Amino acid sequence: MQTIPDGRIKPRVAIVGCGIVGTAMGKLLSDAGYRISGVATSNVETARRAAEATGSERFSDSPWEVTQGAGVVFITTPDDLIESTCKRISELRGFEKNAVVIHCSGALSSGILSSARECEAVVATLHPLQSFASVDQAVRLVPGSFCAIEGDKNALPIVRQIVKDLGGIAVEIEAEKKRLYHAAAVAASNYLVTLVHLALELNKAAGLPKDTSFNALYPLIRGTLSNISAKGIPDALTGPIARGDVETVSAHLEAIEKDAPALLSLYKCLGLYTVDLARAKGTLSKDAADRLVVLLRA
Ligand SMILES: NC(=O)c1ccc[n+]([C@@H]2O[C@H](COP(=O)([O-])OP(=O)(O)OC[C@H]3O[C@@H](n4cnc5c(N)ncnc54)[C@H](OP(=O)(O)O)[C@@H]3O)[C@@H](O)[C@H]2O)c1
Repeated sequence: MQTIPDGRIKPRVAIVGCGIVGTAMGKLLSDAGYRISGVATSNVETARRAAEATGSERFSDSPWEVTQGAGVVFITTPDDLIESTCKRISELRGFEKNAVVIHCSGALSSGILSSARECEAVVATLHPLQSFASVDQAVRLVPGSFCAIEGDKNALPIVRQIVKDLGGIAVEIEAEKKRLYHAAAVAASNYLVTLVHLALELNKAAGLPKDTSFNALYPLIRGTLSNISAKGIPDALTGPIARGDVETVSAHLEAIEKDAPALLSLYKCLGLYTVDLARAKGTLSKDAADRLVVLLRA
């Protein structure tokens, strides 16, 4: 433990897995006054660079060498390696009694860290709800981001404090609901990319050049996000399905079948979901909704 200038006691932190999130967490916590006592990753040269970036006292390619003496251990390896990495550290008695062992995966729960309890450590997860492509971007984006947390009762107060010190906003979630929570994040982030790609492919079939196509769609995408933020869903929904323009939707399906047939089933599937939203908005008559469902299911 160490006392920092604002008078609070902060635990020493070890980071295992020095990629984007591990290095960014180390930098942000170091800036917030935590002492990074050690960093480890499978490549010792990467570990040395991460030690430099985070001001860490030690670096190693053997995690258990840097976790001893740490009050908080972040295991920020790829998801598939978190459980085995934690087990190996536990077997070698690498966790201190009462240390808080944390991973940052969105879909996995703190249950995969249970081997740390053999060292009388406590376990938790802290998932920043963001998409990071680089360390610098993560350092910029974590402050202000929501962070889903769950774990042992004794671990949560320190995890909440860490989120606060990172400049994030902590939201508690049940361990068994994390997969659904992460599916929601995938829908909002990854599938938004998929939707934009669908629109670009349709524009390509319509003969629009690629650059023009994205530039034309971007203000529409931003405007829609702004409407969702201002009005919520379903009120932000506009367009032919919300209006009940059955002939327009029918014309879309005919044109897609002719010029971009591979996209037809996805377009119909999204259309059916949208009919339900339009019903909830209350702008679609029962007759138009029934005809749209027949059309989109065909
Ligand atoms: N990136 C995101 O957008 C994001 C957002 C939220 C949460 N997360 C979560 O954050 C965690 C880390 O993700 P990331 O994006 O930072 O991944 P990443 O950039 O691929 O970093 C993982 C690092 O782990 C190291 N590593 C691999 N095997 C190891 C081992 N056996 N022991 C120790 N270190 C090992 C690798 O470095 P070396 O090969 O050099 O050892 C690699 O740089 C994951 O749980 C992920 O789900 C990521």
